[in-house]
Amino acid sequence: MLADKRILLIISGGIAAYKSPDLVRRLRERGARVRCLLTEGGSQFVTSLALGAVSEDKVYQNIFSLTDENEMGHIRLSREADVVLVAPATANILAKMAQGIADDLATTALLATDKPVLVAPAMNVRMWGNPATQDNIKTLSRRGVGFIGPDEGDMACGEFGLGRMSDPNDIADALEDFFRKGQPLDGTRALVTSGPTVEAIDPVRYLANRSSGKQGHAIAAALAGLGSATTLISGPSHQPDPPGVDIVRVESAAQMLDACAKALPVDIAVCAAAVSDWRVEAQAGEKIKKTGSRKTPTLKLVENPDILASLSQAGNKRPRLVVGFAAETENVTANAQAKRSKKGCDWIVANDVSAGTGTFAGDDNTVHLITKDGVEDWPKMTKTAVAGRLADRIAEALGGNT
Ligand code: C5P
Repeated sequence: MLADKRILLIISGGIAAYKSPDLVRRLRERGARVRCLLTEGGSQFVTSLALGAVSEDKVYQNIFSLTDENEMGHIRLSREADVVLVAPATANILAKMAQGIADDLATTALLATDKPVLVAPAMNVRMWGNPATQDNIKTLSRRGVGFIGPDEGDMACGEFGLGRMSDPNDIADALEDFFRKGQPLDGTRALVTSGPTVEAIDPVRYLANRSSGKQGHAIAAALAGLGSATTLISGPSHQPDPPGVDIVRVESAAQMLDACAKALPVDIAVCAAAVSDWRVEAQAGEKIKKTGSRKTPTLKLVENPDILASLSQAGNKRPRLVVGFAAETENVTANAQAKRSKKGCDWIVANDVSAGTGTFAGDDNTVHLITKDGVEDWPKMTKTAVAGRLADRIAEALGGNT
C-alpha cells in the first residue's frame, strides 16, 4: 500500500533506465506520488518527456538550472519525499554515495536527504562482483541504505549473472514492505469479503443484491494501509481495486466460502459482503425458455452457507478477530446483537439500510459497533472514514505490532 507516499525516484545512467517509466506507473498504480530526478547518464537512456508524462510532474535534472533551483531547491527536493529510491542505481552512483560525492543534482540530493534511501542496482555482473562495488555496498548497507535486488539473469550486454535491475513490480513490492514495517498491523494477515454475491439461475440470469462493495473495499484498503497483508475476496463490483491488496474475484457464495477457506490462516476476518442468502437449488444448464404465461418457471431456493459463521467457528483456524456486518431495516442494534451471538463473531458493525438511508449505493454510512462490551454509536461519516476507524480499532484490539 503506497497510498499518498511521496517517492523521489533518482534514475541513473544504465540501460535498465528504460524500465523507469514502467516503474513510475507501477508505483503510481499503488497510490504513490512519484517525482523523478534524472542524471546526465540516465537521460541517455530515457527522456524527461516520458518520465514527465507518466509521473505527471516536472522532472528535475540540473543543479545549475536557475529555474529548477528557484522552483524547488535540491534540499527541499530531497526532503519533500517519504523515501528516496535510486533505480537503476549504477556502480558509479553507488560509489559516489559511498564516498559522499555531490557533483550533480542526484548525488547532491542524496547527500542532503534526511529520508530513508533505497537502491535497486543494475550493472554488468563483473562490475557487481568487483571488490570496489562490493565494498561500497557494505558501506552503504552499514549506513542504513536498503538494497532491492539485483536479480540474476541475461543482461543487455550479453552476459548472464547477478546485476539485472529487479522487475518494477518487485521494486514496488519491496517499497510496500518497507512502508509496512513499524505499522500497527505489520506482521498480520487479514481477509475481507466485499460486494454482493450473484447466484446463477441459468447461464444468463442470476439472483443478486444492491451491494456496491464500497464499504468492504475501503476496509481492505484501510487494513492494508496499517500494514496487514490483506486479501480482498470480492463478488462482482465496480469499485476500483484497492492498492496493495491481493484480490480474489468470485461470483457465488459457494465460491466466496471456498476462497475464504483458502485464505486461512489469517489474524483478522471482516465479512462485509452482502452474501446472497439463497441460491437456486438446481441451476439450469441451458437458458430457460419462455413457454407462455400459464407455465412460468418456479425457482426452488436453498440456503447458502454462512461464511461469517463458518469463519467464526473454524476451530484452530479461527482468525483472532472476526468482524461481521449486519444490514438491518428495523431494530438495528437489537437484531445485530442477536446476530453476533448466533454467528459467534467477535464484533458486528450494524447499519440501517432501510429505504431512504441511501446506505447501499451511497458514500456515507451510519454504523453501530457491537462488541461483547456493548454498543458504540458512531456518527454519520463516509464509508472510507468508517473503514479507517474500524481498522484503527482492530489494530488496538490486536495490541499493536504482533
Ligand atoms: O445473516 P445476515 O446476512 O444478516 O448476516 C450478515 C453478516 O453475515 C455479514 O457480515 C455478511 O457478510 C455475513 N454473511 C455471510 N454469509 C452468508 C450470509 C451472511 O458471511 N451466507
